[in-house]
Amino acid sequence: MSPLADGGYDVADYRAIDPTFGTIEEAEALIAEAAALGIRTIVDVVPNHISDQHEWFQAALAAEPGSPERERFWFHPGKGEDGSQIPTHWVSSFQGSTWTRTTNADGTPGEWYLHLFTPEQPDVNWNHPDVRREHEDVLRFWFDRGVSGIRIDSAALLIKDPALPEVPADPAPGGHPFTDRDELHDVYRGWRAVADSYEDPRVLVGEIWLPDARRFADYLRPDEMHTAFNFDFMARPWDAKALRESIDTTLEAHALVGAPATWVLSNHDVTRPVTRYGREDSSFAFEAKRFGTPTDLELGTRRARAAALLTAALPGCLYLYQGDELGLPEDEDLPRDAIQDPMHFRSGGVDPGRDGCRVPLPWTADAARGHGFSTPAADGTTAEPWLPLPTWWGRYAVDAEEADPTSMLALYRTTLAARRAEAGLREGGFAWLDLPGTDGDVLAFARGDVACLVNFGVDPAPLPPHTAVLLASGDLPGDTLPTDTAVWIRTRSGA
Ligand code: GLC
Repeated sequence: MSPLADGGYDVADYRAIDPTFGTIEEAEALIAEAAALGIRTIVDVVPNHISDQHEWFQAALAAEPGSPERERFWFHPGKGEDGSQIPTHWVSSFQGSTWTRTTNADGTPGEWYLHLFTPEQPDVNWNHPDVRREHEDVLRFWFDRGVSGIRIDSAALLIKDPALPEVPADPAPGGHPFTDRDELHDVYRGWRAVADSYEDPRVLVGEIWLPDARRFADYLRPDEMHTAFNFDFMARPWDAKALRESIDTTLEAHALVGAPATWVLSNHDVTRPVTRYGREDSSFAFEAKRFGTPTDLELGTRRARAAALLTAALPGCLYLYQGDELGLPEDEDLPRDAIQDPMHFRSGGVDPGRDGCRVPLPWTADAARGHGFSTPAADGTTAEPWLPLPTWWGRYAVDAEEADPTSMLALYRTTLAARRAEAGLREGGFAWLDLPGTDGDVLAFARGDVACLVNFGVDPAPLPPHTAVLLASGDLPGDTLPTDTAVWIRTRSGA
């Protein structure tokens, strides 16, 4: 249950569902029905912060400074004689300060509390036993309802240095006051023990943004999480060298801890690949998001199709963000008064925010009925989805793409089926292939008897010897691989 100050990442009750979305019984039925269809369910758990409406925080606000209720959070007196200066200058992931001042019962200014995100998301104190106990209990609550795993939100941020120092200019590994602190590993060892206490597998997936691949992989040791999202790969530009380097670093770091790598093209926080890959700068950075950045959607779509084949052929787990299988672009024309993301508001309106990748999926091409996303009311009127769909999105609708064998949906369906069917992709090793004369512009690798090739260069590349073409993201004129195109071929030998 969440007041939705940050799209649900402000949880007021970890064991309840907002009536808008249904009931716990309905959630259990959904999990069970999905399981019967062979689909396992993962829920998002948000441990770093809670909603300011959560009973713990309300109790803390009502209690005195120094009270046990406040110990579960990071309440702190301000600096300066009158306490009017913030305790640290830590910068929020959503820009701006990370401290908000409270008001005492008598109306005078009180202590400050820490929130790495919005003021509606106070950080909890992970040195407090109540916090640890409560979250392990929340995990059991959802595992008991049949979920097969959890996504751990902001997983590298939970522990803070209690001395509250400023962020050093160049922190040593583990030396940042609120990111990637060594004590975190104990928290996840505890969670792994909870997960492993169930007979059926329960998986822990971390949302971990860390530049250092080894520190990242430390969270994936055998008694910690199972996997974590590979944001390094996701944020790289559409460039052979940059992606190859990320693939190498990823595979090396994961091999050290024996965990599967993950391949991610986007999620609910970042610009859709079709839009991003059509831009002059096709890398991703939150700070760089601006209204009006030009893109070529045709180019972006061609590259996103190639990226689908690339990621599906790499060893490890594939994460696909809803809507990418339809090739949805970022909705960059949301009316300003429809925008809800606090990232937009906290940037002073300069950052468009993340709603452009969160617009509901068009199920049907029929725009008059809300593209099938919301059920029409009994009187036939369409319920408005929480964000409006662009009027021209009928072309991306599931029913339209199902009827088109060249659609992104058709490509993803064929790709995922082939990924499952090919023994080389399931069990094969991984080896880069050298393609003479391509100047490193073509990424080529073998997995068993399957090879995947992606052409990032300008010129078409000849296909190496093969016995069959299994799948291609575009046309292959004269048995060559054109620019921004990927192919899977069957080879006689391989990795
Ligand atoms: C994670 C989520 C993001 C959310 C933030 C705060 O980064 O993916 O959507 O805003 O955490 O919980």
